[in-house]
Amino acid sequence: MELYSRLIFPRLLELTMSGRELGSYRQSLLQSVKGQVLEIGFGTGLNLPYYSDGVTALTVVDPNQGMTAIATPRIQSSNLDITLQIASAEALPMASESFDAVVCTWTLCSILHIDQALSEVHRVLKPGGKFFFIEHGLSPEPGVSTWQRRITPLQRRVADGCHLDRPMANLVKTVFDQVELEEFYAIDLPKLLGYFYKGSATKH
Ligand SMILES: C[S@@+](CC[C@H](N)C(=O)[O-])C[C@H]1O[C@@H](n2cnc3c(N)ncnc32)[C@H](O)[C@@H]1O
Repeated sequence: MELYSRLIFPRLLELTMSGRELGSYRQSLLQSVKGQVLEIGFGTGLNLPYYSDGVTALTVVDPNQGMTAIATPRIQSSNLDITLQIASAEALPMASESFDAVVCTWTLCSILHIDQALSEVHRVLKPGGKFFFIEHGLSPEPGVSTWQRRITPLQRRVADGCHLDRPMANLVKTVFDQVELEEFYAIDLPKLLGYFYKGSATKH
């Protein structure tokens, strides 16, 4: 599993998540992100082209060195001031209240202790700072959610810990009391994988 996670899964991720549709979601989420920014679950760095000049410094974390090996050339050729750390969002090695924004794209599905990670995101945000996210998760349609729950044990094995059945809105709302959110099925994805939660949450 270790070899699969480090060598094969990052390449699969690069293949499946670098398409135009996901790119348009990345762009619309990231266009208003600015200031000192932290991205958790940086993966292979597919969000990098969508950050604007308003980002003054970008810190990125991911625990999987197979991901960061692919991301490193992207970091080196970017004009942004980027710091990469091998770390888990469950225990962020950063001071409290140090970021204007935290970004997370299709990552909360894979974090084992998601409540802990969301508390960490809240901790490192400055007061008034925003958490920007786009995630897939539990559908409100019973015919879909039943199958999402059934298939999640298999999905966790083949997609490196990914859950299909997490109620992302509720999870974010347990930590943040101001959340702006859209929920929709993504174009061109099966419903089991494609129920998206996109939005931002503000720390007071
Ligand atoms: C589906 S990939 C998404 C990658 C990237 N955010 C993107 O949009 O292309 C999920 C990422 O979450 C990372 N991840 C898994 N557990 C994590 C954790 N505890 N903390 C931070 N990132 C984690 C994985 O290594 C992987 O890079």
